[in-house]
Amino acid sequence: MIPDHGHAFRQAAGRFASGVTVVTTRASEGAYGVTVSAFASLSLNPLLVTVSINQSSALLGYVRSAEAFAVSVLASDQQQVAAYFATSGRTPEPAGFATVSTTSRQTGAPIVDGCLSWFDCTVEDILPGGDHEILVGRVAAAGGRTGEPLVYWAGGYRALTEAVPSDRLANASDGLAVAYHLLDVGPEEMLDAQSSVEPALAALAATRTSVEEWDRLEELVDQSEVVIDQPDEFNQLALAFHNAIAEASRNRVLQATLASLGQVQSIHYRDRGSRASAQAAVEGHRRLLTVLRRGDAEAAREEMRKHLDAVRGHLQIG
Ligand SMILES: Cc1cc2nc3c(=O)[nH]c(=O)nc-3n(C[C@H](O)[C@H](O)[C@H](O)COP(=O)(O)O)c2cc1C
Repeated sequence: MIPDHGHAFRQAAGRFASGVTVVTTRASEGAYGVTVSAFASLSLNPLLVTVSINQSSALLGYVRSAEAFAVSVLASDQQQVAAYFATSGRTPEPAGFATVSTTSRQTGAPIVDGCLSWFDCTVEDILPGGDHEILVGRVAAAGGRTGEPLVYWAGGYRALTEAVPSDRLANASDGLAVAYHLLDVGPEEMLDAQSSVEPALAALAATRTSVEEWDRLEELVDQSEVVIDQPDEFNQLALAFHNAIAEASRNRVLQATLASLGQVQSIHYRDRGSRASAQAAVEGHRRLLTVLRRGDAEAAREEMRKHLDAVRGHLQIG
């Protein structure tokens, strides 16, 4: 057995992919809800579900007084709803949630509109569970629709969309690169496009990626620093770094666009690059990794903008 002070436990538990739910209730003080991944269906006869709620959460008191709660299983486009109900310091909202629309069914507990499925429950039992309490809900009504779930895995939100096989992505970006060639697009326009696309990619990647992927990117930066005096090898690794951020965004349209821009631009980098520009790129990549690891979307967007401006300056383009 490995002695564990919580870190290994959290890491091991984080490897279990789960959906994301919001557990809500309506007490006399108002509507209240909490983002919860520790949901399970428990029994078919009677119909029971469980959710584990941190003892420190105000939700428990409100559920006790309301004697009811609802579980809304979030859809893939409801990441902002998850973020809202995971913010601490909220208070019950007497007029209902200001930024999230809901509908009540049988028990009066608010159910998040647009969710993938829901369970409307009365409280069957509340069991101790260490620093959490386990709410056992008797299902009074349930419903759902087809669609993609929001997934939480290894500390980040995910979608079920499969990664695009790299040959298909390459075909897509080849097609776009041919189009740029036919349009006789120059380096300035390419960099303008890159300046629009890449900050958006970095912002998306910041919230959608796991620690392992950032470790892989760090290795790319380390490898690029080793070959800083070999322009072809360096450019290849720098490009791989940018494409890996694109992949981490989980948006294939933007990913193919960036890959196509990279194919055309690498020629300009080779012609105009220098040791100073490579060194600056390495430093820029390290700063980017720091904010990406923090999961800070806006800082990632800004850092990518600064990095691309610096690249532009070094290559004396624009
Ligand atoms: C994806 C995700 C899953 C979560 N799962 C749980 C959970 O299962 N149980 C829990 O008590 N808190 C969970 N939390 C944390 C709560 O949503 C968060 O601490 C919330 O602020 C608690 O509300 P409070 O302000 O009433 O404490 C989760 C947060 C996120 C982002």
